[in-house]
Amino acid sequence: MKSRFALALGFSLAVFTTGIVSAETVWLDDLNLSVASQGWGTPHKNQSVDGHALTIGGTKYERGFGTHAEGALHIKLDGGAQKFSASVGVDDEVNKNPDSSVEFIVRGDGKVLWTSGVMRAGEAAKACEADLTGIKALVLEVGDADDGINFDHADWADAKFETASAKTFATSGEAPMAPVAPYILTPSAPATPRINGANVFGVRPGSPFMFTIPATGERPMEFSAKNLPEGLKLDAQTGHITGALKTKGEFTVTLLAKNSLGTAEKKFRIVCGDQMALTPPMGWNSWNCFAGAVSAEHVKSAADAMVRSGLINHGWTYINVDDFWQNHRNSKDPTLHGEFRDAKGFIVPNSRFPDMKGLADYIHGLGLKAGLYSSPGPWTCGGCAASWQHEEQDAQTYAKWGFDYLKYDWCSYGDNNIFSHDTYAVNRPEADANTIKAIRPYQHMGEYLPKQNRDIVFSLCQYGMADVWKWGGSVQGNCWRTTGDITDTWRSMSSIGFRQDKAAPFAKPGNWNDPDMLIVGQVGWGNLHPTHLTPDEQYTHISLWCLLASPLLIGCDMTKFDDFTLNLLSNDEVLALDQDALGKEATCVLTEGNLKVYEKELEDGSRAFGFFNLGSAPINQDFKSLVQFGLAGNQHVRDLWRQKDVADVNAADGVLPLTIPAHGVVLYKLTAAK
Ligand code: GLA
Repeated sequence: MKSRFALALGFSLAVFTTGIVSAETVWLDDLNLSVASQGWGTPHKNQSVDGHALTIGGTKYERGFGTHAEGALHIKLDGGAQKFSASVGVDDEVNKNPDSSVEFIVRGDGKVLWTSGVMRAGEAAKACEADLTGIKALVLEVGDADDGINFDHADWADAKFETASAKTFATSGEAPMAPVAPYILTPSAPATPRINGANVFGVRPGSPFMFTIPATGERPMEFSAKNLPEGLKLDAQTGHITGALKTKGEFTVTLLAKNSLGTAEKKFRIVCGDQMALTPPMGWNSWNCFAGAVSAEHVKSAADAMVRSGLINHGWTYINVDDFWQNHRNSKDPTLHGEFRDAKGFIVPNSRFPDMKGLADYIHGLGLKAGLYSSPGPWTCGGCAASWQHEEQDAQTYAKWGFDYLKYDWCSYGDNNIFSHDTYAVNRPEADANTIKAIRPYQHMGEYLPKQNRDIVFSLCQYGMADVWKWGGSVQGNCWRTTGDITDTWRSMSSIGFRQDKAAPFAKPGNWNDPDMLIVGQVGWGNLHPTHLTPDEQYTHISLWCLLASPLLIGCDMTKFDDFTLNLLSNDEVLALDQDALGKEATCVLTEGNLKVYEKELEDGSRAFGFFNLGSAPINQDFKSLVQFGLAGNQHVRDLWRQKDVADVNAADGVLPLTIPAHGVVLYKLTAAK
């Protein structure tokens, strides 16, 4: 424990060296820290983010702020403080984890006043001192040192201000943005029939085939299909295609949807082979709204809402249960008490999920698919029973119940030396020890899932460790998280979304990079609130995730949709970027001040461009010289959010007018004009 004497001495020295008699010391931990934004966990007063005594490099501190990268605490000083000081570092609770690296930054009125440089676990604290004379707006930031937020537990220990007379300061989590009321850009789908969604679908021979034709337009609607291969049948009323294909092959089908106002048709490619998820999975997951409180009733209501809201008509398919469907190791909640496994070792769901097969059947009956969650260690991230040493049985159980998707979350595999007890062989002579450790549990489950008699999408959740994008496909992964958990702040969403370039070349049909789930609508991890993202930040979020060909998993309570959120999630021209059959992920092709331009190649030869404004003031600019993106001749420009054509532009000398709101986006599709 750092002694009180040392604290007192530090304080009087500070008074002495500044030359003025500081009337007040305002401790950071006496301000409202709960509003701080951070990439994981909750802000802690006088404790680390995990709730332990603040400890850096073996030294304990009584006071301070325990947080996590990417973090920010905005403090309104209005010139009322002279100095800030703290001892900063990674909290020892991460056990010298090599993935842990952070950078502390003190920013005053937009300028960096002090930075720690990159700090790692186990290092001694650094003394932070910043002169605050005249500073109005202060931000204490914790960056992830550009390698993701895993294990970035950051402490501002002994943190305090010297002030002349101020006794406290107001805090907030984000830079205040001018309030913008939600505004809808996209016109409603027409009453005439239109078939939406991907134009390609992968299935393995013999697996149950399940596909709902996503079509908007007035009901009743009658569905039909030309050239449907043998083994499949279509329900004309619901548009559900079911059955099974016996042999591998590619079939081009024409789907038709007819109502009293007309008929729509669309070419649809069915590829029966080894691959599923030929386009990124689209659906819902329980975590970002219900977290540890999820129940079968929540999940059924979500499935009902997916249909009732009409989202099913735009290609949204999966209804995924995250953590907490199993019994818990030590929760006080009686609904989570019970045996973990039966006498034969098969997993037993908790009392909130009395009938897992019934639940999957219910979801399938609506034309949707069902997903589940587990971990390769003994416990899930939330402390429920997981798959360690029962991998094969669990894969069999999921298939028997009828689940179509598994999210497999690392967590306790990293604890208690599980790895050294894991005898599962990994034959990867080319891989280093770290990569083998990362691969092993996923290769293990990846061996059993494909042996089941149904297609189960395999979603790897290990936050990007050991560059998962390089090997995730080789362990039968269909998608893999590239980052730590997202939260509903601009800092979290933008720092994840705009840092995906290095994984991008590895995305392809069947293998997708996953920057985590969507945070629009009513989210809150068990404590629902409207997303903290502004409307423009939400347009940015959805545009960016679609450009990135990311799995799209809605994270909100779908029974509480508002018109704005529903509109955001049902723009078929925007979703078509995500679902494009070429399967390319966008990368950043230009950064100019606060403007970032992302480009995605599309199957039809056209390209999508996201013009993003990362700044907090609008951008009004005539964008010139599209030739820098390799474009030539006249380009036809479509505004995808408004679903409206903009005047054609000549790539060499034309001008693309850009009006981009703060933290907002303009999303265009450019096609060579005929
Ligand atoms: C991890 C994952 C989250 C969620 C929780 C469940 O944090 O990254 O997406 O699944 O575990 O406990």
